[in-house]
Amino acid sequence: DGHPDIGDNPLDGPLDRVRVDDSGRELTTNQGVKVADNQDSLKIGLRGPTAMEDFILREKITHFDHERIPERVVHARGSAAHGYFESYADHSAITRASLFAEAGKRTPVFVRFSTVAGERGSADTVRDVRGFAVKFYTDQGNWDLVGNNIPVFFIQDAMKFPDLIHAVKPEPHNGMPQAASAHDTFWDFASLSPEITHMLMWHTSDRAIPRSYRMMQGFGVHTFRLVNAQGASLFCKFHWTPMAGTHSLVWDEAARLTGADPDYHRRDLWEAIEAGQFPEWELGVQTFSAEQAAQFPFDVLDPTKLVPEEMVPVQPLGKLVLDRNPDNFFAETEQVAFCAAHVVPGIDFSDDPLLQGRIHSYIDTQISRLGGANFHEIPINTPLAQIHNNQRDGMHRQSLNRGRVSYEPNSLAGGCPFQAGAAGFTSFPEPLTAAKVRGKPELFADHYSQARLFWNSQTPVEQNHIIAAFRFELTRVQTPAIRRRVLAGLVNVAQKLAQGVADGLGMEVPPPLPLSTDLPIHDYPPSPALSLFSR
Ligand code: HEM
Repeated sequence: DGHPDIGDNPLDGPLDRVRVDDSGRELTTNQGVKVADNQDSLKIGLRGPTAMEDFILREKITHFDHERIPERVVHARGSAAHGYFESYADHSAITRASLFAEAGKRTPVFVRFSTVAGERGSADTVRDVRGFAVKFYTDQGNWDLVGNNIPVFFIQDAMKFPDLIHAVKPEPHNGMPQAASAHDTFWDFASLSPEITHMLMWHTSDRAIPRSYRMMQGFGVHTFRLVNAQGASLFCKFHWTPMAGTHSLVWDEAARLTGADPDYHRRDLWEAIEAGQFPEWELGVQTFSAEQAAQFPFDVLDPTKLVPEEMVPVQPLGKLVLDRNPDNFFAETEQVAFCAAHVVPGIDFSDDPLLQGRIHSYIDTQISRLGGANFHEIPINTPLAQIHNNQRDGMHRQSLNRGRVSYEPNSLAGGCPFQAGAAGFTSFPEPLTAAKVRGKPELFADHYSQARLFWNSQTPVEQNHIIAAFRFELTRVQTPAIRRRVLAGLVNVAQKLAQGVADGLGMEVPPPLPLSTDLPIHDYPPSPALSLFSR
């Protein structure tokens, strides 16, 4: 069919139905009428005005006028590829999710990597977090693991997400700076939000300038739940480990590439796959019980905290291989809709208040980004598992649901879908009794222990890069009080860090920011797994 790169990926069936082979065909309108002349509009005389009746010109221009859709409100710049996930073993002891049911079982995936802050056309190698979003087309429905390349996040509660992004994005009056955190508004917000401190350590480290999408770790960030067929549940953290190792650029390389080759990561991923150098990652989990979690010196529902690997080792589950580039960037990479709410039986949420907000945000934004409620019918978003329900209509509906009945219960239709009971998704019946309040658990107020853990786990080279990155970023901050507040926060992480940054800025180290809690800063042993040199 003119697609030599199509292998035995089960997703090819659905995608084949919409693949178009234009080669050697005559040009037509969208109504299938052959076009005689694609060069000239219809005129009254060769020098005359264009005729209103030129439906061929009008259709062509009208379609062009509507080619653009809104870019993602975050993670606008991205690249994606097809591949598969293969389970190493039968993991049914920890989860009933069918993709982990037996050794060698393969599930098709579509993976999109992205930057967070930049616009759709921005450069790849800027200092930023990278998105690592995986859509698993499992036989129980789609599971999206919508993660990042950094295991912690900026904020602890979804309530703060619009503020964070408004601070990160270009300033609203002049649209600057594009795709960079180096400006007053970001550092103003950061210096007033001490919960961000751990993330700032990662963000100023080499992790925020990866060498290649193929050489990044990925993390689910939040604590999730795994649930087995008997209903037993463990908490878990998801980890992607690149088989090629985790590698970063140094800042001078990144800055130069941003000018010389803004597509550096996009091209690298594309060319590796075209050359048959298929990138691979291992998926692993850290699992722990609620009783274990209660003993940790941090709250597992706090997304600014990680579980040190020395405390809970990562257990490998299977591998991800990306072996095919998309046919069409817009149809696949741009229209793919990942959603933190897309889970399958065997995988469940925790009560992390950031995750809880994400469950709402993704479908909501996609309704406006992708034009209505039927974007699950766009081929890249359609599950391989069948869809049967009584949802109907909406913009651009494709499915031809038949019969007079679209409700349940009913006595009129022979073949109406019925609820699946135990075979379907059931939420883990976590017992909860509490007052309805706004606020945070006490351990959430410990903002410095893990920032210090990260700093203490870096080699001297990495520490110097962190100091240099803070210095670079803060030299772009024009308001002296903001710089001072950032420095005051860094004193709580490490004197050497605060001193190094202050020296670079020609400033005195200010007194530390007051802590938000009476809890002492917890003294973690350094975690070698957090240094790039161990990866
Ligand atoms: C994309 C919201 C936190 C990872 C998005 C999008 C929104 C959003 C609206 C654009 C989706 C689209 O247009 O298709 C939020 C909210 C958050 C949050 C409200 C917190 C309350 C996070 C966290 C992570 C993350 C903690 C990582 C664990 C991603 C990724 C994408 C994304 C990877 C890009 C998906 C793609 O490639 O299409 N987020 N996000 N987000 N988010 Fe979040």
